Amino acid sequence: MRPEALKISDIDKLFREDAESGEYMLHRDVFRDERIFELEMKTIFERNWIFVGLSSQAPNPNDYFTSWVGRQPIVVMRDADGQLGAFINSCPHKGARFAHHRKGNAKQFVCSYHGWTFNTAGECIYIKDQDSGGYAEPFNQLDHGLHKIKFDQYRGFLFASLSDDVPTLQEHLGETMPLLDLVWDQGPDGIEAVPGSSTYTYDANWKMQVENCIDGYHLTSCHPSFMNIVSRRKAGESENKQVKSIDFNMMMEIDGGGYTFDRGHALGFGVNPAPQERGLYIHKDEVEARVGPTKLKWMLSTRNLTIYPNVQFAENASLQMRVIRPLAPGKTEMTIFCLGAIGESDAARSIRIRQYEDFFNTSGLATPDDTIAYEDCQFGYEGREMEWSQGYSRGITNVVEGADSYAGELGFTPQTSSTGPFKMQDETVYHGGYRAWRKFLQTELGE
Ligand code: FES
Ligand SMILES: [Fe+2]
Repeated sequence: MRPEALKISDIDKLFREDAESGEYMLHRDVFRDERIFELEMKTIFERNWIFVGLSSQAPNPNDYFTSWVGRQPIVVMRDADGQLGAFINSCPHKGARFAHHRKGNAKQFVCSYHGWTFNTAGECIYIKDQDSGGYAEPFNQLDHGLHKIKFDQYRGFLFASLSDDVPTLQEHLGETMPLLDLVWDQGPDGIEAVPGSSTYTYDANWKMQVENCIDGYHLTSCHPSFMNIVSRRKAGESENKQVKSIDFNMMMEIDGGGYTFDRGHALGFGVNPAPQERGLYIHKDEVEARVGPTKLKWMLSTRNLTIYPNVQFAENASLQMRVIRPLAPGKTEMTIFCLGAIGESDAARSIRIRQYEDFFNTSGLATPDDTIAYEDCQFGYEGREMEWSQGYSRGITNVVEGADSYAGELGFTPQTSSTGPFKMQDETVYHGGYRAWRKFLQTELGE
């Protein structure tokens, strides 16, 4: 029997949201229903701007790297003149992928099936034995080039869309642009991914990762090993002098909170827990001269930014970029990178990498805690007798519309602000994502 098609009202029922009484509950079908996953792929991932990489991943003419937009494989290429573009990784002839590696440099791609050849601007420059092919006019009239998709960049952050029917990239990013600037402006020439990345999968829904990035509430309970090790290092019990870890035990003493934005983006932040421990601190004078004291203060604070739906810049233990690729309602692929300022000193770079390995990397002290927690949730969602999750309510009496004083000092206007003592460990920061999610899905169902 075919599952019943979803209706607009079905999506409405997945939320209990009452601003007046402060009720907010999320239905667990959001994480487990195949029909919802299918709709998410169609609307949120395949008719929307999707982050595909950093310009520094293809710095030179004819550099390329492969990526994904939703379920579709793509290649981002810099052509011989230095122009970046994005193309579906599929040969127009019979569909073979023409780029086999994660990244590289190639003046042309020769399809390994029948030898059609393309330059890095996507033009077909050779069709093997074309003269003897007996082709008729309709074939000759075709554009044999690679299939180009919509592409744009903000600073060095690259985005692509499978649909032309999207707002401009600047409209999509909106008020998060000053927050992306805090990532990009850490070096005079921007930031780059440290060579090497990790790709892994976890058996849970992609939105578990979206939520976790801004989940301050899990920190003390989900990462006890890290917290304990940091305390022991501080107490002088460790021989390890290589890592200057950020002491997250301090988070409960500082101010922080969360911001929601249009189109699902979100920020969790904490004010300056230990600026002197960061790699960036070594270059603080140069950075301050370039961007001013307020931006520097924000750069040295803890900021976990999600650009909805598929990229996160988590700046806490170090600066990590995470790219999310949903595979199924209960399976997600993550690719993670350590970021550093282009041209920074070896000393700064080494602090960033040591802190990254310590906390973030797949072998770090935190990432496995988080992915196991997502898998435990997805396991629990199979208990279908239970429909609702209650974890969206902390901070609800604190949330205000628009900007608060912290947002005001940096100069961005979020949809909502909820800041104060970090120990409130706000959960209203998820709401913007689900409001956008609902809108994306309902727009599709309303057509
Ligand atoms: S599939 Fe590429 S040349 Fe045939
Ligand atoms: Fe975590």
